Amino acid sequence: MSLSDRQLWDVRYRQGAYAERLWGSAYFQQCMSEITAQQAGARALDVACGRGRNSIYAAQQGYVVDAVDVSPTALAQAAQQALRAGVTVNWCCQNVQDSEGVSAWRPQREYDLIVMFRFVAPSLLPALVRHLAVGGQLLVEEHMQWSGPEAVSGPSNPSFRVAPSALRQALLKNAEFLEIIEEFEGIVEEPDGSQAALSRIWVQRQK
Ligand SMILES: C[S@@+](CC[C@H](N)C(=O)[O-])C[C@H]1O[C@@H](n2cnc3c(N)ncnc32)[C@H](O)[C@@H]1O
Repeated sequence: MSLSDRQLWDVRYRQGAYAERLWGSAYFQQCMSEITAQQAGARALDVACGRGRNSIYAAQQGYVVDAVDVSPTALAQAAQQALRAGVTVNWCCQNVQDSEGVSAWRPQREYDLIVMFRFVAPSLLPALVRHLAVGGQLLVEEHMQWSGPEAVSGPSNPSFRVAPSALRQALLKNAEFLEIIEEFEGIVEEPDGSQAALSRIWVQRQK
């Protein structure tokens, strides 16, 4: 990603992008209710956290959270929201993918939980699962390319959407140590009433 892209995201956040996203994603909350109780000090990573809705939610569930995003403005807004919510998150300004969609960035430690929501970077997934602790879980949710008759919300540029099956394909080479807990591809109603075409995958590291 070039500097101008970083600036682009900063402008979007200064203009109020995602200001309405104050709560953890409904899907994340639904999964969390099924994720077994974590030991004190369990670690979570939120990749491309934006205004930190999921980072803050994970911290509220007792995780020690690292959250990375390319936009300093988003992180400043996220930090303010975390303060209001009374939780601590380790915010980190980090470019995790270059302009060709190649992800050279790697997490610095292992995590019990990694989430990546609404940021299209399938090439990052193999590295992310290698930074899961044994038993650790990865949740990914992306807008998906959609050819059905429904009008779907989200990016109009298909390159900001994953192709059907792309998340599973990206994880195939790690299949020997992963269990797929849940997969979904289809239409979901968003909190604003629009319809989104989403691809989701939830996996757990076995060994
Ligand atoms: C659609 S927002 C999703 C934010 C958050 N995950 C959520 O679900 O609310 C996409 C985020 O990706 C971040 N982003 C875009 N390119 C990035 C990159 N190369 N490295 C890190 N973050 C990036 C943007 O700053 C933005 O916050």
